[in-house]
Amino acid sequence: MMSDSLLNALLHAKKVVTLTGAGISAESGIPTFRGAGGLWEGYPVEKVATVEGFEKDPQLVWRFYNERRVNIAKAAPNDAHIILAKMEKIYDLWIITQNIDGLHQKAGSRNVVELHGNIWRVRCTNCGRVEYNYEVPLREIPPRCKRCGGLLRPDVVWFGEPVYDINKAYQLTEKCEIMFVIGTSAQVYPAAYLPRAAWSHGAKIVEINPQETPVSSYADFIFRESATSAMRKIYQAIQEASQ
Ligand code: APR
Repeated sequence: MMSDSLLNALLHAKKVVTLTGAGISAESGIPTFRGAGGLWEGYPVEKVATVEGFEKDPQLVWRFYNERRVNIAKAAPNDAHIILAKMEKIYDLWIITQNIDGLHQKAGSRNVVELHGNIWRVRCTNCGRVEYNYEVPLREIPPRCKRCGGLLRPDVVWFGEPVYDINKAYQLTEKCEIMFVIGTSAQVYPAAYLPRAAWSHGAKIVEINPQETPVSSYADFIFRESATSAMRKIYQAIQEASQ
């Protein structure tokens, strides 16, 4: 059962923002980063997710991203992605995601801010050209720029690099009436600032995560369960109430 006050907030809100992290794609078969079995347990972050690591061993970094691309290519959006896409018809809804898997767009969402880039984009370290590349698995590792032959890198944000579109993310955050925070451990900044910023601007914070996070201490509503299970309940309640 969903609380009446959450339902009431959902029925009156117009502007909704959803901050998503790796947990929303977990039920699509994409591993999260932290915790037991997380990606960072098997791969040292500094080797595969920093500029220094890439400069030292681009082969290793590309083998890591090639493996992730193979896995992500097999993944389909789950009900949480799909319901968020449907909710664009009800709300002025924006997704701010830390994920690079593109599953929100695959589910049909159009208003997506990808803070950490996209695994299907590559960027030339020589001429700066950016393009989409869906080759799975990659034929050449590391891949080279078609235009200048320079070394390509994944167009994703590594540790120590600035995130994409943070101004847009803050603008959306400051205006929203409800923010869903789904499947993020809220440990990586600046994304982790956003729920607090939304909360200080008066938004209701709805956390969906089987585990406690720093957001739990001030969230207005908490679903201690998986993303698909919580989003199904929320969507059903909205639909029933608006019939
Ligand atoms: N539904 C909802 N949440 C889930 C589910 C699920 N089915 N399964 C796991 N979670 C939660 C975990 O409890 C955890 O809090 O998802 C969260 C995943 O946390 P992280 O692995 O830390 O992922 P994220 O917060 O997205 O990491 C942020 O860190 O390493 C970088 O660039 C990487 O974008 C990533 C960033």
